Amino acid sequence: MLNCKPLHSLFAAEVVGVDLRQARDPAILAAIRAAMDQYAVLVFRDQPFTDDEQVDFATRFDGKLHTQTSLSALGANRFGNEALTDISSVKANGELAELADRRRLSILSNRLWHTDASFVDPAGRYSLLSAKVVPEVRADTEFADMRSAWDALEPDEQTRLSGLRVFHSIVHSRHAIGFDFAPEEAARLPGAVHPLVRTLPGSGRRALYLASHASHIVDWPVPEGRILLLDLIEHATQHAFIYRHIWQPRDLVIWDNRATMHRGRPFDDTRHRRELRRTTTLDIAR
Ligand SMILES: [Fe+2]
Repeated sequence: MLNCKPLHSLFAAEVVGVDLRQARDPAILAAIRAAMDQYAVLVFRDQPFTDDEQVDFATRFDGKLHTQTSLSALGANRFGNEALTDISSVKANGELAELADRRRLSILSNRLWHTDASFVDPAGRYSLLSAKVVPEVRADTEFADMRSAWDALEPDEQTRLSGLRVFHSIVHSRHAIGFDFAPEEAARLPGAVHPLVRTLPGSGRRALYLASHASHIVDWPVPEGRILLLDLIEHATQHAFIYRHIWQPRDLVIWDNRATMHRGRPFDDTRHRRELRRTTTLDIAR
């Protein structure tokens, strides 16, 4: 039903011929979900969403939206809707953010490998990122396939990892780059525990569930768990498992946070305007 053109040998595809703003037929929505189970990252070109249309589509596609974001904890949402996360280089007044802008410094940690909303329970399922303004310089996003990362582990390593639980905290990942929330902000972001290895219900495949937010392994000494998590992130982000997305205006990229990690790549955001809007759905049983 869907016309999917693979973008990588392991995952990620471009879907052609669909206007998501008009996608209401349950059969089309089901076909996109099935393609998500297969590819984990889907790219749709030329999708000129308004903010309201993006929220409507995300809700129609997958239900409840994530609102307990780091920007909500900072009180820095310029859209009046916490379900719309501002992935951009501008401030509330539309001007470019300066080097020391606090919101800018917080979202710099998007350049660490992570999966969205792993620090809440239920965690994030799909993220939908819409490109409004794309700079003339490259400002790419990389995705890593965590199912392939799992498949590539030795069987005895897979056995050792199965059943482990991980504490995820955005306070931890921000602190890793030297950004600290005030105590009252951190109190709104308490963190969450999730399994290290997840079985994806749509495909039956298993995936490593890692992120910069992954702080430590429950019931293990913190350094023992943290060094294992760092080793696993290094394994999971080797070149063979990565698709690099080059943004065009009006792109809408959907990824499965249970099956992938991603990171933004550096560009001079104090000189170049870039405006993306993210909506993330929550992993609630359908
Ligand atoms: Fe992200």
